[in-house]
Amino acid sequence: MMLRPRHTLIAVLLASLPVATASAQNLDSLLARMTLEEKLGQLNLLSAGGRASPQQTDLVRRGLVGGLFNVIGTENTQAVDRVATTESRLKIPLLFGLDVIHGFRTTFPIPLAEAGAFDPDLAEATARAAGREAAAAGINWTYAPMVDIAHDPRWGRIAEGSGEDPYLGSLLAAARVRGFQESILATAKHFAAYGAAEGGRDYNTADVSERTLREVYLPPFKAAVDAGVATLMSAFNDIGGVPASGNPWLTDTVLRREWKFNGMVVSDWTSIAELIPHGIAGSRAEAGRRALTAGVDMDMQSSIYVDSLAALVRSNRIPMAVVDSAVLRVLRAKARVAQLHPVAPNAVEIRALARRAARESIVLLKNEGGVLPIDRAAPVIAVIGPLADNRLDALGPWHTEGKPEDVVTVLQGIKTRVPAATQVLYAQGAGIEDTSTTGFADAVAAARRAKVAILVLGERHDMSGEAASRASLGLPGVQQQLLEAVAATGTPVVLVLMNGRPLILEWAAEHVPAIVETWFLGVETGNATSEVLFGDVNPSGRLPVTFPRALGQIPLYYNHRNTGRPPSPEKYSSKYIDVPVTPRYPFGYGLSYTTFAYHDLKVAFHTTTGSRDLQAGPVRLGPTDTLSVVVTVANTGTREGTEVVQLYVRDEVASVARPVRELKGFSRVTLKPGEARRMELRLAARDLAFYGLDMKRTVEPGTFRVFVGPNAAEGLEATFEVAYP
Ligand code: NOJ
Repeated sequence: MMLRPRHTLIAVLLASLPVATASAQNLDSLLARMTLEEKLGQLNLLSAGGRASPQQTDLVRRGLVGGLFNVIGTENTQAVDRVATTESRLKIPLLFGLDVIHGFRTTFPIPLAEAGAFDPDLAEATARAAGREAAAAGINWTYAPMVDIAHDPRWGRIAEGSGEDPYLGSLLAAARVRGFQESILATAKHFAAYGAAEGGRDYNTADVSERTLREVYLPPFKAAVDAGVATLMSAFNDIGGVPASGNPWLTDTVLRREWKFNGMVVSDWTSIAELIPHGIAGSRAEAGRRALTAGVDMDMQSSIYVDSLAALVRSNRIPMAVVDSAVLRVLRAKARVAQLHPVAPNAVEIRALARRAARESIVLLKNEGGVLPIDRAAPVIAVIGPLADNRLDALGPWHTEGKPEDVVTVLQGIKTRVPAATQVLYAQGAGIEDTSTTGFADAVAAARRAKVAILVLGERHDMSGEAASRASLGLPGVQQQLLEAVAATGTPVVLVLMNGRPLILEWAAEHVPAIVETWFLGVETGNATSEVLFGDVNPSGRLPVTFPRALGQIPLYYNHRNTGRPPSPEKYSSKYIDVPVTPRYPFGYGLSYTTFAYHDLKVAFHTTTGSRDLQAGPVRLGPTDTLSVVVTVANTGTREGTEVVQLYVRDEVASVARPVRELKGFSRVTLKPGEARRMELRLAARDLAFYGLDMKRTVEPGTFRVFVGPNAAEGLEATFEVAYP
């Protein structure tokens, strides 16, 4: 069933002419009829508390608001939209924005968790489902996907993105844009380098070179633009002293001129007013002038454009053409809304999708001595910890309309999967941030009686997300002591983690036989987790971000440069004297209940006719050629399982030092026990491009290494040459 587009005026305008020309002509004529105040009004975006306030409704009536966000429910959106489209002079409909980050009503795994599925189709499907649910509640614009690359787990917003890798991040950015934009407009945010906050402290300065910006932080935004994203959000942070919400190089030179983005840029929440504390504007009007002339079209929550810019435009300090371009971009976004055809959400399908997403997101970090999967017929199972029967926190940091009552907890999931004869003992042990250990006695007693103790530990849902940076990355409160007390009983322990960022888990990694990373999985937490614990589902998630061993290693990421003194036993090499230089768990890592082996890696031409030349010997690649990287992957265990086959490259010698490895491809493959499959991954010469000394993209001839394997630290290796005629 199609939901009816609500933006009738623009829909009618568009329908009256062939679509290709309609929007430009009609929107221009609309612009010509607007007063300066009405133009600035279109650039004004205000947050509401569920519904528009009487004051906001009055501003809408006067044509001084272009969009509202946090108005939820069609009754509420339609009520104020009706004022806009019937009572305002120009009858221009409103945009209705909302942060739909990991689901609207049905809460999906957090984006970081979902990234670990290495499955763009899944990300597209969950975004599509969330978009449908949001559209049915009157929303036509989401502030997602969040595509910030992050190298620092102290930064709480790492939970909202796809982790540390620009290639994976780009594929997921594009997939989520496609998914959302079936029903609502999407926003790639936060442009740019917000994830590079120094010290992992939210809103902090980023200082990245142009090369790193272009190679690491910008690619997911470019991918979103190429996928047709309607809007981008300018970030809070400055980059080397230039705030992103007043940075003409970013929003004009790169975004509009280089990338040819013709959509709209919205500021972040009061990020225009924040140009004053940043120290680049001495007044609200000056802040507004800097933002608008830099190319930030819509002013979220500062009310500066509408309140303070008219005089500057009248005195020609801001050219009218700048205002007009911004207004046209807002009107075009509204025209796009009118062309959407939201599909009604199907609650049963969406819930099933939430289960699939939760299953695919779980990462098995450790499994020694076959502790997992658990025998569900064990006489007694202990389930312990502050997150074991916790609905709210399982929803994760940005659960919008998600309801705790929709969540199946881990304890519930376990109880529904064991036979009646199995006794499940539950003890909370401690609260997430408790300082008291009084609950330990019950937990220890339960563990003593049990065959296995499942400890569900981690973070509160709001310990990650916005303004939730942490300076320590251990288990909060007394949870570490609880873990050690339960482990001391000698009962085998399975540690189930819920958290929005990589944690530092050294003690557990050394002493606990099994560790399962579930992040925050949303409504299907308990079902998916218990399916994994009992082996109904074989885990297949992989880490989209590196897990450090120690805080002092941060930032730690797999695609670093080699340095002139790469780590070695030699004293004067790049390392620490007190902690190994390697991560605890590398990017791409994750175990399965089966095992996989890789063999027979071959690199060959992929010819334009589709046939392959698999002859032995060095492969020399021309600039327009594509490589075919072929490997056999075998399931060498006793269960069916899914492997994420990962392809990395390294440019050995280049005019600019290249990362030790860069992910360039991956493929999920499901194999039966004993089954082996010849897998082919493609690599085009243009995929090897980087920003050269002149900051132009280039592929330089020379030797490359290619790695194919289960994570960023392992795999088979081969070489090939890029040679230009
Ligand atoms: C501030 C956040 O940084 C941004 O991600 C969000 O979209 C806006 N608030 C609106 O809620």
